[in-house]
Amino acid sequence: FGDKTNSLTMNEPVPESLLDTGAQGVISRPLDRVDGPLKVSGTATYAAEYAVPGLVHGVLVGAKIGHGKVLAIDVEAAKRVPGVIDVVVDFDTFIRNAQQGGEEGAPTQGVKQVDYFGQIVAIVLADTYEAAREAALSLPVEYEYKAGTYDFEAHKDEAETPPRGLIPPHYSQGDPDTTYDAAPVKLDVTYVTPSQNSAAMEPHASIAMWEDDALTLYGAYQMPTSDASQLAKSLGVSVSKVRIISRYIGGGFGSKLGIAPESVAAAVAAKQLGRPVKAVMMRQQVFEATPRRSNTEQRIRLGCDADGRIVSFVHDSLVANLPGESFFEPVGIGSHSLYCGENRRINHDMVRLNLGLTGSMRAPGEAVGMVGVECAIDELAEQMGMDPIELRRINDPLKDPEKDVPFSSRMLTRALDEGARRFGWNQRNATPGSRREGEWLVGIGVAAATRNNQLQKSSAKIELKPDGTAVVSSAMTDIGTGSYTIMAQIAAEVLGLPVERIVMKLGDTNDPPAAGSGGSWGAASAGSAVYLAAEALREQLAKAMEVDPGDLTLKDGEAIGGNRRRSIAELVGDGMEATGEIVPGKQEKQFTQASYGAHFAEVGVNVVTGEVRVRRMLGVFAAGRVLNAKTARSQCLGGMTFGIGCALTEDLIHDPRNGKLVNRDLAEYHVPVNADVPQLEVHFLDERDIHANPIHAKGIGELGISGAAPAVVNAIYNACGVRVRNLPVTCDKLL
Ligand code: MOS
Repeated sequence: FGDKTNSLTMNEPVPESLLDTGAQGVISRPLDRVDGPLKVSGTATYAAEYAVPGLVHGVLVGAKIGHGKVLAIDVEAAKRVPGVIDVVVDFDTFIRNAQQGGEEGAPTQGVKQVDYFGQIVAIVLADTYEAAREAALSLPVEYEYKAGTYDFEAHKDEAETPPRGLIPPHYSQGDPDTTYDAAPVKLDVTYVTPSQNSAAMEPHASIAMWEDDALTLYGAYQMPTSDASQLAKSLGVSVSKVRIISRYIGGGFGSKLGIAPESVAAAVAAKQLGRPVKAVMMRQQVFEATPRRSNTEQRIRLGCDADGRIVSFVHDSLVANLPGESFFEPVGIGSHSLYCGENRRINHDMVRLNLGLTGSMRAPGEAVGMVGVECAIDELAEQMGMDPIELRRINDPLKDPEKDVPFSSRMLTRALDEGARRFGWNQRNATPGSRREGEWLVGIGVAAATRNNQLQKSSAKIELKPDGTAVVSSAMTDIGTGSYTIMAQIAAEVLGLPVERIVMKLGDTNDPPAAGSGGSWGAASAGSAVYLAAEALREQLAKAMEVDPGDLTLKDGEAIGGNRRRSIAELVGDGMEATGEIVPGKQEKQFTQASYGAHFAEVGVNVVTGEVRVRRMLGVFAAGRVLNAKTARSQCLGGMTFGIGCALTEDLIHDPRNGKLVNRDLAEYHVPVNADVPQLEVHFLDERDIHANPIHAKGIGELGISGAAPAVVNAIYNACGVRVRNLPVTCDKLL
């Protein structure tokens, strides 16, 4: 390969992987995170933590109206606060670009037109954070009020068809209505899920620095490569002039997929002042001015024959977003291929509201769409007197129910069966309310897990150094998921190097472009790029050894082949390097690709207070090759914990008079804490997906949440016999 890029387009399956030999014995092992010591010792530098000389502190100002116009901002009043330098309200150069995916959309920040309460309208700059904060919180802003739409219920009738997103908003096959009406067994239920916030631990933060016309931005971003394009576009500069560095990110969950207002504000202010500017969102601003997950109303109609085979599958959803925005929560994305049903309709309609921007939050689509579907399946099973696992089994399709293509791999029923065995499903009493322990009614529930699998074009470079180390670099990120570790493991495994000899460099757009962390594609996409770079280096090493690559073994820093053994350090001479690139191809059209699993939950419901306690949960997952048993498990634990929050506590509440968020911090927006989360068990089924990519791994980050919440909700019903169809299931709804 020389210096050429080893590029692979996934047009054909890749049946054999160099990872299968496991010669180095490092792939899949539950290795501790390579970046762990830096993180626990506080020496991993996050976006807001860079010490930059001459730094100006910026504090953002959000609109205090829900809809209208900024007429005037009293900059002089702000300047009377000692230490304040200026207020930047240069709206015209601010972003006029949607935060999600870079599509053209409505202005979302820093504009005179205010579309939602809390929308960023200015940044106050000062020598100290305290001065900037004081002036920002008291900044006099004069508004013109306009009538806005803030109430989902009141505007439901005005729902319109959203533009095409990840999936078409409307899909229909066969005759779902007639076959539903004619079906001997029918279920028609409506589930409601609330608005949610990603609530990542690290607030959105940027430090912007200009050198002439080139911008360097330390940011907390999931996808630096595309974020740099978005930022360049919003600032009106060439993308070659924008460098984003996101070495460590304290969680994103979707809220850091696209650029957020603080990066643009910091960049514009830094340009204007000729000094570096730091902008860190206050927690309340994270809630108000970064994307939320849309609330949903999902009407599910299932018609089946007397044996339980679904003949009509209808999933109609209402979601919300700002006027003019193109993103819609793809509620039915999992419904397209989860169950049988020749007649089907999966529709999404959009209610336009002046509430914060909606966007992707962990497992956009499945995380909430499966609440509706998996609870409906539980209801249907009960109505038929069938075991809910059995109902799922007989509706597990052999090929995609909408396209005439097979699944790349699919272990849904296996996961349900394995979970049932491990969890003790046979202990379940199908009659609700039949198990009581003192004040507690105890029940168990199940739900399927599925998450679509995606591959995104990504690249990575590996340099083999004369000292026997390898430097892996890519604009991929680690948002707390373990990318640093699994990418080091892949390089170590293919190159036969101890993992300690791999030096990882991630999160810098100066390095080879990558799709970053999103949609659960990160590990498989960037991991494949690392694999391909290592494969190219392996060929170079084989050449240096004068053996066929097939006859070469790389292990413990040595190359073995042709009855010879030499150290890799010696073979690389002055150094070798190679770049790998993975490109999605026909395989994703020729096969429906998804990961699968099963969630089991046991809950106690207090008969006096209605309090719900999750007692134990088990997730069984099949997501192709597990690259690191520990970080993969942690991803699933995190997803299941998210599911507990979705089922029981998370609920963004907007004031119906102006859209203001009532609970805009972590004291009022309740995510599960340790006391809410019992021992969770995670088990992986052994699987390889040869159609997905050369490392045979599928996405895992979002599988753990997809289906977790409905397992809890179904367990609550089994415990106490109250079917709550409006999440979260709070005490008041059970009494
Ligand atoms: Mo994910 S919601 O694509 O970070």
